[in-house]
Amino acid sequence: MTIGFFDSGIGGLTVLHQALKLLPQEDYLFYADTDHVPYGEKTKEEVRTYILQAVEFIARQNIKALVIACNTATSIVIEELRSRYDFPVLGIEPAVKPAVEQSAGEQQRVLVLATRLTLQEKKYHDLVHRIDPGERVDSLPLPGLVQYAEQLEFSEEKVIPYLQKELAHLNLARYSTVVLGCTHFPYFEDSLRKVFPPGVKFISGSRGTARHLKQLLAARGGMNQCTGNIRFYRSGIEVDDSALLSKYNDLFKRLDEMEEAAAHTEQEN
Ligand code: DGL
Repeated sequence: MTIGFFDSGIGGLTVLHQALKLLPQEDYLFYADTDHVPYGEKTKEEVRTYILQAVEFIARQNIKALVIACNTATSIVIEELRSRYDFPVLGIEPAVKPAVEQSAGEQQRVLVLATRLTLQEKKYHDLVHRIDPGERVDSLPLPGLVQYAEQLEFSEEKVIPYLQKELAHLNLARYSTVVLGCTHFPYFEDSLRKVFPPGVKFISGSRGTARHLKQLLAARGGMNQCTGNIRFYRSGIEVDDSALLSKYNDLFKRLDEMEEAAAHTEQEN
């Protein structure tokens, strides 16, 4: 049996990328709802309908677990999905907890970047309220990054001016930690590092979600010895376009390169 991954678009690949490292012998199905991306700028009701439709399709593909690799979708429907299906459903939420814990005792603040819808949702407000009694967390939506990712536009010439404009009202020296609270955002870690002062830490929930998936499968005795095959779907249609598949592979390479560069930079600091 395969493991389903779901996102509005290619953001979920940043989570699948981590799962492939921890669970290389599983088979995967990756479903991107590209007909309806971006979710973050739509209404909650509209997005809920799209997610339920997509998950109905995924549930028919004989999956043993489903990862909602989208912070926005998690904040809207995770409980509803868990009550509808028998397979385990894992979500991802902005990594506010590790960010606040790691920076405890520091004067500097935490900045959470996510979609507008995630930041509006009660789930997010409850999370921050629970974890941040000292009120050290600020939040900012960056919808342009979702659009850039979907256009496979990662060039610093385009992305850095956008980030500078969106962040202009903030004093970036006040932040020690930035949470990448949308699965599309880790693709831009290189540009973000150039815009924030040196030494700022970037945290995403992808690795934690992959670890959680591994623990869950191990606890259920449900690990496979497969080949790490991935089937890709775009809003219910299987992708058989080799040019597109090779672009997805390039995205994994991009993420690997940025991870190496980040490890290097953190060693230097
Ligand atoms: N990748 C998604 C997230 O983590 C949603 C992006 C969007 O569709 O707006 O929130």
